[in-house]
Formats: sequence, C-alpha cells, structure tokens
Amino acid sequence: MPLLTHIGVLSTPRAGAPQGTLESIPDACLVWRDDRIAWVGPRHALPAHFDDEAPIDARGRLVVPGLVDCHTHLAFGGWRADEFDRRLRGESYLDIARTGGGILRTVAQTRAASFDSLLESSREKAHEMLSLGVTTLECKSGYGLDVPTELRLLEVYATLARVGPQRIVPTFLGAHTVPAEHRAAPGAFLDVVCHEMLPAIAERGLARFCDVFVEDGAFTPADARRLMAMAQRYGLRPKLHVDQLHDGGGAALAAELEAISADHLEHVSAHGIERLAEAGVVAVSLPIASLYLQQPPMPARPLLEAGVPVAVATDFNPGTAPSGHLPLAMTLACTTQRMTPGEVLAGATLVAARAIGLEGEIGSLEPGKRADFALIDAPDVGHWLYRFRGNACTDAYIGGACAWSAPAA
Ligand code: NIG
Ligand code: FE
Repeated sequence: MPLLTHIGVLSTPRAGAPQGTLESIPDACLVWRDDRIAWVGPRHALPAHFDDEAPIDARGRLVVPGLVDCHTHLAFGGWRADEFDRRLRGESYLDIARTGGGILRTVAQTRAASFDSLLESSREKAHEMLSLGVTTLECKSGYGLDVPTELRLLEVYATLARVGPQRIVPTFLGAHTVPAEHRAAPGAFLDVVCHEMLPAIAERGLARFCDVFVEDGAFTPADARRLMAMAQRYGLRPKLHVDQLHDGGGAALAAELEAISADHLEHVSAHGIERLAEAGVVAVSLPIASLYLQQPPMPARPLLEAGVPVAVATDFNPGTAPSGHLPLAMTLACTTQRMTPGEVLAGATLVAARAIGLEGEIGSLEPGKRADFALIDAPDVGHWLYRFRGNACTDAYIGGACAWSAPAA
C-alpha cells in the first residue's frame, strides 16, 4: 500500500463540519490501497502494519484534497479578446451580446471547429488546470446550440473522461442562449432543446446535469421550469446560471427546481438566500467572472451566515472568465468576498464536490474516499492563498497515481 510521508501539514475539510473548519494535521501520513484512501493521521500514530512500505516523500509540503472546479465551459472554439477591450472602453456585456458578439460569436467558432481540434484544445486547458492541482472538472456544453455541435462538445468531454487523467463531470447547457437561426421564434428553440437535444444526449449517457442561463436575452424562469421538467424525466438534475447580471428571482427558482447548485448569484436577494438555505442548494461563486465583468461578486458572507454552502469555481469560458486558474479564483474569493482561506479550500474541494454530486467520493482526505490530492509549496492553506503565485502546486495525484509533477528545478 503506498504511503505518503513527511507531509508538512495535511489540511482537509470534513463531511459534516462547518464550511470554515479544516482538519489540519502537522507531520502527517497518508496511506492508500488501489485508488482509495486507507488511513490519514499524524506520523507518530501510523499503525505498524503500514510502516514497512517504501514511502513517498512529500518533502514537507502542504497536502490538500485535489481541487474540484465545479463550473467550467471547457470546450469552445476561439477567444474574444476584442470584447475584453470593448468592455474596458465602456460597452456592456449585454450590449455586445445584442450586437452579435458574446456567446453567439463563440457558437459560430465552435460550430466551425472539428472534434479533434476541440479535443486537443480542451486537453491542453485541462492539463494546465491539472498542474494547478485540479483533479476533477465539471464541463458544460452550450457553445453548439444545435444537435450535432452539442453532441460533439459532450463527446469531447466523454473522450476526456476516458483518457483521463482528471475526473470529468459533463453538464448539458443547450439552453445557454437562443442561436441566431431561432431568434425570430425562441420558443421553437426550446422545443429543440427539450425534444431533440435532451433525448439524444440522454440516450448516449453524455451528461449528468442540465444547466440553463436565466437572464435577459437568454431564458426566462418559465423556460427554465419547462426545460427542467423534461431534464428530470431524463435523469438529469438541474444546475442554474442565475442572478448574474440582475436579480431575476433565480435563487428562489433554483430552490423551487431542487437544483443541486445555483451559480453566479452576484445579485441574489435576501429572499433568494433564504430559499437556497431551506432547499440545501449549493451556491457556486465565480469571482473571476465578476472581476472580468467589473461587478461586485456574489455576497458570500450573507450566504454562508444563512447556512448556504458556497463553492468556488473558475467559470472558465472565452467571454466572462478567460482563465481556468482555480487558485486565482480562490484568492479572489478571500479578497473580494471575505471568505476565509478555510472556507475557500472547502469551497474548492468538498463543497464543490457536493455541487456535482460527488461529495461521497472526492473532496476531502478521509478513509474510503478516492486518493486525489495535491502537494503545495506553502506552509499552510492561509499562506498559500495569501501569497498568490503563478503556481504553488508541485504534484497532483488522482486515484493514488501521480498525474503531474513539477519539472525538477
Ligand atoms: O457563465 N453566463 C453565461 N455564460 C457564461 C458566459 C459565456 C460567454 O460569455 O461566452 C458565464 O459567465
Ligand atoms: Fe458559466
């Protein structure tokens, strides 16, 4: 059984503990059998029968659960740097979208991209994320908006999941916006999403969740209700993009639809917060998107104080969050949302796992869970998030196997 020893500090959230409470064990050992954790604890308490293993030396590093990015739009064609420039000159995200930019521009470039090129660029992006310690990713479709391209994007994710090394959780986001060819009759597009895309995806087992962007210029709460009724029939649980650009009652809608998560929530109302807490919905904070849209981030403190678990993710996409740097999102969650480093580590591991239905498998370092973990060159979690660097991760393990190691200096 492999044994990791000379861990400076092992820090992990624990199921059932308040979000900010980490368990931190100095001079720890971690033992696993096959791909699951067998034992975690201080070195002096290591049971004798684990002792005779050839240990792996953690070189005094901080060890944390593998990071879980529970909200990405990983596969897309092309970038939109010119829109970044236009927004800096004062145009709004919605104005750019209304004049043919935004999501629709990426849709055009994604439709023109081959399966192989989408797979290749997604693999590169996923690999970069792996080097930061990200061992699991949720990946959304939503830049196809027709049957063949939505299927192609989800097939890219199925292939990534097969070849690894990361765990991939696919989400169908056919209701991202209404494509140009359906603008005259948006209702007909929702028919396509419900009656053509959903069955084709469900039949091939290509998605676990169904997402929708509820916003002016995208979909209404009534559209979301209709879509999610169908999605649930196909066994896909709702996730929602809500209250991003204004309060559209999206949090209460997510609660009503028993969504596993409500994402964005920059403009969530006090009533919405109450409803999320009652329904046990995870709030997914996307501080990189808030930063790029220059808007105040999700109010994490009132959410946490109301008892809503808050995950932290990147929202990696070519428009509002052109970076898949989860540790950057984590530091921003501290500085812009006043989340503590402990709350943030839980938000990017165990709470994020809950937002994708995997909290029983990953997200904390406890016996029985998958041996997914990252070695970080920092003395503790607080120091890691305080001293933001390009990359402090030196090694990433998935299912007990080393998936990435920093090249020796
Ligand atoms: O999560 N809000 C909707 N979707 C993405 C942005 C997509 C884009 O601009 O391409 C988001 O921010
Ligand atoms: Fe998103």
